[in-house]
Amino acid sequence: MSRKHNFNAGPSTLPLAALEKAAANLVDHEGLGLSVLEMSHRSKDFEAILAHAKETLAGLLSLPADYDVLFLQGGASQQFAMVPMNLGSGGAYVTTGAWSQKALAEAKVVGEPVEIWTDKADNFRKVPAESEALAVPAGAPFLHYTTNNTIFGTQFHYVPKASVPLVADMSSDFLSRPIDVRPFGLIYAGAQKNAGPSGVTIVVGRKSILESFAGPKWVPTILRYETHAKADSLYNTPPTFGIYLCSLVFDWIRAQGGWRRWPVAPRPRPRASTT
Ligand SMILES: Cc1ncc(COP(=O)(O)O)c(C=O)c1O
Repeated sequence: MSRKHNFNAGPSTLPLAALEKAAANLVDHEGLGLSVLEMSHRSKDFEAILAHAKETLAGLLSLPADYDVLFLQGGASQQFAMVPMNLGSGGAYVTTGAWSQKALAEAKVVGEPVEIWTDKADNFRKVPAESEALAVPAGAPFLHYTTNNTIFGTQFHYVPKASVPLVADMSSDFLSRPIDVRPFGLIYAGAQKNAGPSGVTIVVGRKSILESFAGPKWVPTILRYETHAKADSLYNTPPTFGIYLCSLVFDWIRAQGGWRRWPVAPRPRPRASTT
């Protein structure tokens, strides 16, 4: 078969090795006599797939022990709403393109965010210079920015400094380069560009943010990070096959050399799900 070139931002090219392994296992997963598509998400077999996906990604990111990974649904667009619902309604936003504008618009549905920097007047031709001090209001619950502006093609080549939790939409450059997660409170990305198929949303964040919900009571259970962190991404039926495919992409990245740039304390073993 001749494979087509695909330069779409997403859903985009997946490593052939990952696709071929998924295809080989589609009907009979590793000799278990059933497909991941048919497997209970509460079974030991799927728990092993989920744990492998999580641990491999944690390894690629050199994830410190006080950070966790969630596999969610709803795309980055759902994160536009979940971030202000969970972290607070008065977030500071840097808008450098269409997606950061959408994030800001959604935050306005939830509360009263502040747009602290925009290049809209110049049709989003640049991002703030590293030397530029961003005027984050005192007491802002977070600073949100988009690391790569998929449509306009502008990308941050540095991590902004913030005295409040830094939140990044990394949808279009997640895993495309080494990421030191330590300056970030929370990172989110739809998997479909670099990390797997559409239908999986990856959230990486500090446990102190993910595990204790401090938002308003009206936020539905399913839209609270705490719900998913406490259930180890198994609160409800997750996109099982998508997570499996992500794990194959993570394996492939690791096989290319992976990234181990930051010496961090070893992570504890994943806890076994009890539900
Ligand atoms: C930077 C960025 N953020 C958010 C989105 C929206 O992602 P989703 O379709 O997963 O909601 C995209 C999609 O292209 C994107 O490129």
